[in-house]
Amino acid sequence: MSVKAKKKSPTTTKVKEEREVPKVKLIPVYVMGKRYEVPEGLTLMKAMEYAGYKFIRGCGCRGGTCGACGTVYRKPGDYKLQVALACQKTVEPDMYITQIPFFPANRAQYEFAELTSAPEQVFKLYPELFRCVACNACTKACPQGIQVMDAISALKQGNIAQAARLSFECIQCGLCTSRCFGELAQYHMFQLARRIYGARILPRAEHLAEMVKAVNEGKYDDILGELKHMNKDELEKLYQEREEEPVTAGEDWKPKDKTYL
Ligand code: FES
Repeated sequence: MSVKAKKKSPTTTKVKEEREVPKVKLIPVYVMGKRYEVPEGLTLMKAMEYAGYKFIRGCGCRGGTCGACGTVYRKPGDYKLQVALACQKTVEPDMYITQIPFFPANRAQYEFAELTSAPEQVFKLYPELFRCVACNACTKACPQGIQVMDAISALKQGNIAQAARLSFECIQCGLCTSRCFGELAQYHMFQLARRIYGARILPRAEHLAEMVKAVNEGKYDDILGELKHMNKDELEKLYQEREEEPVTAGEDWKPKDKTYL
């Protein structure tokens, strides 16, 4: 006896699809004092958007790298005002969320070409550096886990290289400054330290100089000309068939075809 397959009606499929939608748990949060129910697991930024707020500033990369979204929040029953990146921190029940208004932070003006590696120049551009009372509030506020106070101490000692290394992960969000009693703009100071470190202290990369020389001497003019005349399909084929550098390759890895090295 043949069993005729029962045809699913569109209505049955729709009901099934509806049933498969995962249930989202909503949790209460307070944005600017108003209560909203938002899905658990959202970042503060997405929760605010879910609640109807639109970011026209204080939002950039959404990936924790641009530093635009410094936010403050408070947990119920906790006196402490916490800081975080709104695009990284996830909501917790009954959290009070608000955005930080713009706060002025001194950013020194300078002609970088005129600066040397002498720390006195940093002292002159940022004399407030010596207002640091080593309270460490800056370090506690840093969403990147940077030892901000240690980097400031290094700068005070004239150790630009150490300040640059310690602050390498800085994304310029300014949350350190928002907590500083001395009104230091640590992130601007660190940016200057990293610029001086990169341009005046680190030794020049010899291989880079060689490559720049080769480019200037026209070593790659022909291949560049060829590429410019290829159509989209040819370019795609070339790209698909390229020899990829293995993930585990060491510093001395070289492609089999060395024509363009
Ligand atoms: S939006 Fe760029 S760090 Fe949050």
